Amino acid sequence: MDPTKLSLPSDANASGRDLGDEELEMLREVIRSGHLSSTNGAAVPALEKEFAAHHGVPHAVAVSSGSGAVQTAVACLDPSPGDEIITTSITDMGAIAAILYQGAIPIFADVDPRTCNVTCDAIERRLSKHTRAIVVTHLFGNPCDMDPIVELAKRHGLPIIEDCAQAFLSTYKGRLVGTLGDIGCFSFQQGKHMTSGEGGMVLTRDKDLARRAFLFVNKAWGYGDATPDHYFLAPNFRLTELQGAVLRAQLRKLESVVARRRASARKMDELLRDLTVAEPPSTTPNGTHVYWKYCLRMNPERLSVDVQAFGNFLKARGVFCVPRYIQKPAFECQVIRDRVTFGKSRWPWEGAHMAGRDPVEYRRDDYPGTYEALARAMVLPWNERYEDEHLSGIAAVLHDAEKALRKGAL
Ligand SMILES: Cc1ncc(COP(=O)(O)O)c(C=O)c1O
Repeated sequence: MDPTKLSLPSDANASGRDLGDEELEMLREVIRSGHLSSTNGAAVPALEKEFAAHHGVPHAVAVSSGSGAVQTAVACLDPSPGDEIITTSITDMGAIAAILYQGAIPIFADVDPRTCNVTCDAIERRLSKHTRAIVVTHLFGNPCDMDPIVELAKRHGLPIIEDCAQAFLSTYKGRLVGTLGDIGCFSFQQGKHMTSGEGGMVLTRDKDLARRAFLFVNKAWGYGDATPDHYFLAPNFRLTELQGAVLRAQLRKLESVVARRRASARKMDELLRDLTVAEPPSTTPNGTHVYWKYCLRMNPERLSVDVQAFGNFLKARGVFCVPRYIQKPAFECQVIRDRVTFGKSRWPWEGAHMAGRDPVEYRRDDYPGTYEALARAMVLPWNERYEDEHLSGIAAVLHDAEKALRKGAL
């Protein structure tokens, strides 16, 4: 093994995941019961109750993925084809596909280049008479500046969906994300703060939205009703009892996972204090960051840097970073750029419902914050199992990269 290469705990395997006897115990119970479907199960309903209670809201509905959670949230609002849903230009494609699958058109708002989060001003610029809802993503674990967004949404009578896939237990003004808007969405995919490999959850205070979410993930079959039917078009997005069991154990560890990630991020901020080439991630005022990733902001104006070469240096030393995060804004990805959706229809951007309307276009010039944010982003992997030696190792690699840069060796 290369002695100069760091070996860091990774969320891809046991080295960086808090999975153990507690999960096995819960799984054993489910397997012994012989009942693995959440329909009439015990584990998933218990998880929903516990997850909701943890957030101090009355309703949570488990979903088979984070993408499914956002789709469920959108479906709860029942948009008509061509309705516009404002979202962010820097997010996971699953959260955008969710909008398209429900027949709505994603309208991208620009982000704050410092935090990579969508802003109230940018959302306001994208409002139109077709706007049906706003999706905010608390990127990397840092909350969006929610007060002005909530105020704007109220003024226009628009519901807010919070995408908290990366932001478990992050707070804004002392309140948990996922409880600030109308529906909160979470992902339990392998690399998240709590995981069952795949999975998701929606959270809401609203009884009617919760009922609709429950129906949506269950093919809209009215379980328990006097005369049940399939009430509307909906998929099977159910979580299994096996996942529910693992997640009940994971939920009990969540506070600790988040606390450890935050504590090591504070140490890293300190270790990088005299770095010139990049700055530690910033946190929204009155917010707490929960560090799904530790996204450095490169400072090319202070020290000229080729971000890819810098990233290659880090990777060669064992820090598996991602320069530029998603590489390009969501609207430049092929599916959106070429509108590759249902056959050759280009639906929902095109179709009878668009008659008399200007076509929706995404113009590069509208997104200066997005291009700047991506050009400066250097996403470092983050993990609750980092010890001081890992932190000092990562910091040393970063300082070495800066030295190499100063010498012109990068
Ligand atoms: C912000 C955001 N939204 C949605 C998703 C989709 O979640 P999933 O991969 O569980 O479908 C992710 C996944 O990484 C995400 O980061």
